[in-house]
Amino acid sequence: MESDFLVIGSGIAGLSYALRVAEFGTVVVITKKEEVDTATNLAQGGIAAVLDKDDTVDDHVKDTLISGAGLCDENVVDIVVSEGGQRVRDLVDVGVRFVRKQNSPNEFDLGREGGHSKRRVAHAYDLTGREIERALVEKVQNTPNITVKENHVAVDLLMTNGMRSRCVGAYVLEREGVVVPYKAKMTALCTGGCGKVYLYTSNPDIATGDGVAMAMRAGANIQSMEFVQFHPTCLYHPKAKNFLISEAVRGEGGILIGVDGKPFMEKYDDRKDLATRDTVARAIDSEMKQTGCDNVFLDITHKSREFLSKRFPTIYGRCLEYGVDISRDPIPVVPAAHYLCGGVLVDTYGQSSIEGLLCLGETSCTGLHGGNRLASNSLLEAVVYAKRAADKCGEIKADLDAFKLPSVDSWRPGEAEPIEEKILINHNWDQIRRTMWNYVGIVRSEKRLELAQEKIVHIAEEIEAHYKAYFVTDNMVELRNIAFVAQMIIAAASKRKESRGLHYMRDYPERDQAQAVPRTMRRVKGGKKWDMEEVTV
Ligand code: SIN
Repeated sequence: MESDFLVIGSGIAGLSYALRVAEFGTVVVITKKEEVDTATNLAQGGIAAVLDKDDTVDDHVKDTLISGAGLCDENVVDIVVSEGGQRVRDLVDVGVRFVRKQNSPNEFDLGREGGHSKRRVAHAYDLTGREIERALVEKVQNTPNITVKENHVAVDLLMTNGMRSRCVGAYVLEREGVVVPYKAKMTALCTGGCGKVYLYTSNPDIATGDGVAMAMRAGANIQSMEFVQFHPTCLYHPKAKNFLISEAVRGEGGILIGVDGKPFMEKYDDRKDLATRDTVARAIDSEMKQTGCDNVFLDITHKSREFLSKRFPTIYGRCLEYGVDISRDPIPVVPAAHYLCGGVLVDTYGQSSIEGLLCLGETSCTGLHGGNRLASNSLLEAVVYAKRAADKCGEIKADLDAFKLPSVDSWRPGEAEPIEEKILINHNWDQIRRTMWNYVGIVRSEKRLELAQEKIVHIAEEIEAHYKAYFVTDNMVELRNIAFVAQMIIAAASKRKESRGLHYMRDYPERDQAQAVPRTMRRVKGGKKWDMEEVTV
């Protein structure tokens, strides 16, 4: 399989980029499940941008920087916020139907979320991600230069000469045991985040950090992995899996209350329920620990049923399925892993430290989010960077055209044989996710991180042995990736000896100005595959 552009992942970042580079050459998009099985598809809140005459770029920049806890790259924040409004209008051109003001159909109906000083979130009620994905998929299906391969899993990057050489595509698992090289002049990792590293997450099952793990193994620079965002409000119900209660509910007046029925956010932050996510998630964690209760509640019962069922049709309907009428009952909620603020370090065009390898969306670390992403800034980052990366590909088109793809080794299965002990894989999945939840979650400590490190290294060694001994399966690829990502998070968290943004250490509860820089790491040459060293960039 050969193409000009290989795109791994089919969320907003991957499809937006694919549509743009289809102008310059052939594009192959591979996606692990079906095209719409993405985190984008589950996004409820929307996309933040300066779209209202009363809003300004300066205000959005300021809110992003405050949320980012001193670690945002100010140049990047300025670029993303300045270009954001036009990118939202581009989505409208692709066919996305954002909700408009009732009496003014040319104006966006804008929602509000935590950390935003203004209403600036364009939405399609609480189905924003699904609407964006629908429009992009439709457009991709009608674009002749793009081939989409569903149920294809990228296993590792194809490199011309080992670690830190040029990337020329990826080895792709087409079906159990069959791994094929997909060669490309430019490869873009758009695989989303890694919520599945944790026991409880708002993310879909595909979120196993594949892009970050592959890039790390190839020797790319990886930044800020200690900053994992926990969304404060996921539905707490034994039958609900990964169901988010959008922050937009708090934006419309939802109030967090404890089991005693009393609001508690005023004890933690002057912005109360609309404080940034790091603060709100930690406050909930603390309330749950103090009271010994399994959850808190989000109360929006002061709004009418008519309003709630129209503004939040998915949340209203899904909660009702579980016996919670949100117009009458407070919603039981808990925090859950939601978004990876760190990732593969890229420049302002999505270019990683490896030639021929771009990273976009949640897989990348652009410097926009710093130590804590501002709500609804992620879809924005994805569309801004997809355009910038594609424009750059257009600029270097002559070089890409002239580049001759080298011959590459076919996949060597070694002594591999079909795996019989699937139970071993499931057990390792569970152990990693529990360890990360218990020891590397919202509140961390040196001791807990050390324990996590010991446990995960042990599991990772077992996984590598399985990986070599058996035919590759999609489950094994994902398990191996979450083990790598878990180790990156632990390594980065152990180095940050302070509390900042999403990273809270019991042993160092204060911010330390001397550590107000993002940390960058990369794989060490020689040694174990997951051994990492810190680098200065
Ligand atoms: C939400 O709707 O609360 C999620 C939006 C986001 O993660 O930015």
